[in-house]
Amino acid sequence: MVDYLDRIGAGAVLANPEVMDFDWMPPELVGRESVQRELASKFSALAHPEGAGRAVITGPVGSGKTVLADTFCRDIQRHLSGKRNVRSVKVNCRNASTSMRVVQRILHLLDPGHPDRGLSMGELLLSLRRLLRRESSHLIVVLDEVDHMLRRSGDDLLYQLLRIDEDQEGKGTMSLILISQEQVLDVLETAVISRMGASNHLRVSGYTADGLEAIAAQRAQLGLVLGTYTPEIIRLIAEKAAHTGDARKVIELLNAAVERCERRQDGHNATHLIIEDVHEPSNTSFTAQGSNLELIDDLNAHPMLVLLAVCRRLTNQETMTTGDVEQLYAVVCEEYEVKMKSHTTVWKYLKEFETRQLIASRVATIGGGRGRTTHLSMPHFLPKDIASRLEMLLKKKIR
Ligand SMILES: Nc1ncnc2c1ncn2[C@@H]1O[C@H](COP(=O)(O)OP(=O)(O)OP(=O)(O)O)[C@@H](O)[C@H]1O
Ligand SMILES: [Mg+2]
Repeated sequence: MVDYLDRIGAGAVLANPEVMDFDWMPPELVGRESVQRELASKFSALAHPEGAGRAVITGPVGSGKTVLADTFCRDIQRHLSGKRNVRSVKVNCRNASTSMRVVQRILHLLDPGHPDRGLSMGELLLSLRRLLRRESSHLIVVLDEVDHMLRRSGDDLLYQLLRIDEDQEGKGTMSLILISQEQVLDVLETAVISRMGASNHLRVSGYTADGLEAIAAQRAQLGLVLGTYTPEIIRLIAEKAAHTGDARKVIELLNAAVERCERRQDGHNATHLIIEDVHEPSNTSFTAQGSNLELIDDLNAHPMLVLLAVCRRLTNQETMTTGDVEQLYAVVCEEYEVKMKSHTTVWKYLKEFETRQLIASRVATIGGGRGRTTHLSMPHFLPKDIASRLEMLLKKKIR
């Protein structure tokens, strides 16, 4: 029996592999209500027989621009069904980077049998016009990564598309959504944004740890077997991705953790994601030269003891409070037979660890907002590895 293939399709942890695919469209966006509402407001005229809309969406990598447009097109079609027949086509201009290729793609998506070879731009646009008139449906054209086309062919096509209804009886046959990363805004800025209307420019921001947590939680809920993950492990993964603000990164980290967890299973263990699954296994020994764990080598003995206390707890638990730190620090001081530093000094050390990105902290309110607790976690290192190195270093510093 080829039982090494058993895992294919049905994982012990991963129930629906497609959910981890970047192109998989979630049933709904999480945490983007305000920008969704803003986008919808640009298309409020769509409910009227002659209404159209325009929007330019910009934002950093992985901020959900493409999925925002995709879900909007899907949802608006459902929302207006029975009232107005709406269709949408999306062209990624990275793959179709000249205006000619873009129009060919649009036509091909609308009418797969449409001949495009040998036709001039004018003829292609005429075909598009005819097609739209014949279909009597409203078309939303989404030009994703539009900067590629703008750089190669300029903005002439946008102008043509925006005036597609001229010399026609009907009006409002086409809406346009342009998407681009923020860094390339210069290409878009002036002419294009003013042509599209400056008020139609939507800026989306990168995700915070909370935003990424919500996205990872949604993927886990829809993709993983129930009971194979905890909210705490999802939070740790989100914190690991937080410095990027990139939703793709958090999905990738979740998927990598799931894969490590699946590999760990021998069919008898309890199957759930653990802290070790979240981190890349370090193939270099923690004492090896060049290992990034050397980052802690220049710490003095006392901060090392505090960090050791932190690592020992975070080896088995995703987060801890500052109260926990002090308790465990007392135990560590006893073990090493040194006098404890004051509360303020310990706090100062913790701040220093955070600056060095050894730990991350989050303030949470408890008890209906009356109390505030600081939760610490270690998203970038395996606490066990740091603890081992600290124990080795402390042996030289103390005793
Ligand atoms: N708010 C969200 N809710 C659920 N999934 C999201 C959300 N935002 C992003 N995603 C998912 O994260 C991934 C990246 O999002 P998307 O491709 O839309 O980013 P982008 O801004 O277009 O990135 P790029 O600049 O690289 O084109 C996709 O798989 C997408 O489904
Ligand atoms: Mg995109």
